[in-house]
Amino acid sequence: MANIVVTGAASGIGAATVELLRRSGNTVIGVDLTGTEIVADLSTSVGRTQAAAAAVEAAHGVLHAAVCCAGLGPLSSHSGGKLVSVNYFGTVGFLEELRPSLARAKQAFAVAMSSSSTSTQPRIPEKVVAACLDGREAEAVELGDEVGAIPAYPASKLALARWVRRQAVTPDWIGAGIRLNAVAPGVVDTPMTSGSDLDPNLAKAIDFYPVPLGRRGRPEEIAALIQFLTSDAASLLTGSVVFADGGTDALLRQDDW
Ligand code: NAI
Repeated sequence: MANIVVTGAASGIGAATVELLRRSGNTVIGVDLTGTEIVADLSTSVGRTQAAAAAVEAAHGVLHAAVCCAGLGPLSSHSGGKLVSVNYFGTVGFLEELRPSLARAKQAFAVAMSSSSTSTQPRIPEKVVAACLDGREAEAVELGDEVGAIPAYPASKLALARWVRRQAVTPDWIGAGIRLNAVAPGVVDTPMTSGSDLDPNLAKAIDFYPVPLGRRGRPEEIAALIQFLTSDAASLLTGSVVFADGGTDALLRQDDW
């Protein structure tokens, strides 16, 4: 079957994705800070380069798909700048390093993890989004620190969604046979949203998000969507940002289309 690299493989959505893709017969190479085949810190450019090189080596030069789940949430104890460096630059830098190897597969897939906070959270700081998209990492991190983690989170994820839409349609990506898409989950029950290290009041506040479906998502539900996006069944999708949020985006932005 396919050689697939998954970042953030040790927890939550990444771990569920690894399990599902392995059960379907794929060779899956995990990347995370600990507890996976490749241990790397994707907040640094050295970490991204080393992780990509190790993944290509483990796949004997040909990767069929890359799934980037590694991320830090807005309720973590990390600074806004750290969120920007992991969520945006950790994904973009890693995927750019892997692109030549994905292109060698002729038909390949890449999935980035955006978030429904991009369309539901008010006052996203555009200056952070712009610095990310311009590749000004040091400045984006500084701005992320300045605005704080709660606004920096949707900014990093909005920049990622826009990067996917801009890049997916270029000769480098679709022209090289790589279908690049993003998933935008709503609240999913993982250590990011219900970990014991979170501020309990902020963690409770997450449930004020209206979810017409009536419950949080489960990591396996996002993994199923990722499996679809890394398969031939998704043959017409490129540059799509797929919301999987129990209806929150549709409810809050009904006619904003
Ligand atoms: P999680 O906290 O369970 O897993 C995230 C993983 O990323 C962890 O294993 C962590 O060690 C890894 N990671 C963090 N910093 C890293 C670094 N510097 N280098 C390498 N790995 C690093 O989180 P969850 O919920 O599974 O989230 C997965 C992705 O989905 C994230 O990008 C998150 O922003 C996104 N997402 C999650 C939502 C949710 O409600 N859980 C909603 C929308 C998006």
